[in-house]
Amino acid sequence: MTRKTNLSLRAQGNLSGENVMLEGVIRVNANKFDEAANPDGIINLGVAENQLMKAELRKIMGKVDHVDPKLFGYGESPAGSKQLRRYFADNIFNRYFKPQEPVRVEDIVLSAGCSSTVDNFTFCVCDEGEGILITTPFYGGFNTDIAAKSKAKVVIADLGDISPFDPAHLELLQHAVDKSTEQGIPVKAMVLSNPHNPLGRNYPLEILLEYLRFASRNRIHILFDEIYALSVFDHALTGVAKSEQPAENPFISVLSIPHLEQHCEKDLIHVAYGMSKDFCLNGFRCGALVSPWNKDMIDAMHSIAVFSWMSSTTEAMLTRLLADGKTVDEFTSTNQKRLAASYTFAVDTLRKHQIPYLPAQGGHFLWMDLRQYIPPAFKAAAAQGDRNQEYLLWRAMLNEGVYVNLGAAFSERKVGFFRLSFSVPIPMLELGLKRMLRALQLTYDPLRVSTASTTATTTTTPAVVAGNGTTLKK
Ligand SMILES: Cc1ncc(COP(=O)(O)O)c(C=O)c1O
Repeated sequence: MTRKTNLSLRAQGNLSGENVMLEGVIRVNANKFDEAANPDGIINLGVAENQLMKAELRKIMGKVDHVDPKLFGYGESPAGSKQLRRYFADNIFNRYFKPQEPVRVEDIVLSAGCSSTVDNFTFCVCDEGEGILITTPFYGGFNTDIAAKSKAKVVIADLGDISPFDPAHLELLQHAVDKSTEQGIPVKAMVLSNPHNPLGRNYPLEILLEYLRFASRNRIHILFDEIYALSVFDHALTGVAKSEQPAENPFISVLSIPHLEQHCEKDLIHVAYGMSKDFCLNGFRCGALVSPWNKDMIDAMHSIAVFSWMSSTTEAMLTRLLADGKTVDEFTSTNQKRLAASYTFAVDTLRKHQIPYLPAQGGHFLWMDLRQYIPPAFKAAAAQGDRNQEYLLWRAMLNEGVYVNLGAAFSERKVGFFRLSFSVPIPMLELGLKRMLRALQLTYDPLRVSTASTTATTTTTPAVVAGNGTTLKK
């Protein structure tokens, strides 16, 4: 690479990468749906943004004097004021994560968003060119968090047909690490999101324990991104949406696992969190690293915290929101009920149209299989990994006025999977789904085609297996 542009090689390395997620977001933001002002605008069912709690947030935040002159100066600490970190500890982590040892103020470093937290974490554990292991499919933002500034490498363990919730995938982890080491990229950490983004499910305990043992065996750090911990809604489901949930599978924070030291050296274990998801505050930019057993990590995070210092106004607003445990409880339980209602509406619609999906338990999204809308002439190529048809479906939906996120953005190898964010008010969701179905049927309508044929039936279709190896519901 030359220095033609007069930028650093580091920065130049960021110029060429294509970012599918970004392309969609740019199109949506240029033409945002608004029921009154822009009803033909694009409905955003692609970004994990929860729009269900706006009225409550307005009410709580409205009480903060955001032009209080005290907020014009620097805050108390780039890592967040003691008071705010105290509220994070008491009213989020110790209240909801069931930690074996109470989380303390000094275990937490705040930053301007969970993306910053993962970026700073990467900076602290990886030198340039070292790797962080992730299994597929995964939240695409990790690519940027890990590579853009720290210049670490994402080391992908491609699970192919195996689900990340199936212990069968575990042997692929060691294989990925060994191969990466052979290629000169030593792996320094593993990152995973629990609840899983994009699959919307919790990791079972046995997998969490295996991950811990794996980290210990390889002496690598392991970061549990638990940013959707309070968005688990399956307990609030009823009817069919409830009945299709697999066996009891609660969210388990790594902090709550007893005798962690029997599975992994505790200094390797860290948790990332943030206010974007469970508190519907993507725009506020606040993330947290919790590292109760590694003082060096905490000190290293403090040493770079100044670059991702959240604003004093944000800090004041969050301090207000989190000050009272009862407010957090009410907010959380209302949010979970609304997530369950929007989820139910989404899956009822998908079921009606025989679109397979993976039942979700938490998060703002669900994973659906749209392969049936790939026209027959292109199915073989798509099955071989040709992504063209996935892009075409995605653009067809955008052209009809709805944005959903495509499997490529999550490094899903199989072509034709999409992530649908349902965390919007039901009327908007209904319209978005209508647009999505119209776009799909215009591209290729398997029901119409098979109804016309003499042999195929269209009323009952068997469950199919998703790209992640988990049986999807029809
Ligand atoms: C698993 C996960 N981690 C981190 C983030 C980024 O969060 P933030 O908005 O706090 O940067 C997201 C956002 O989608 C996410 O899904």
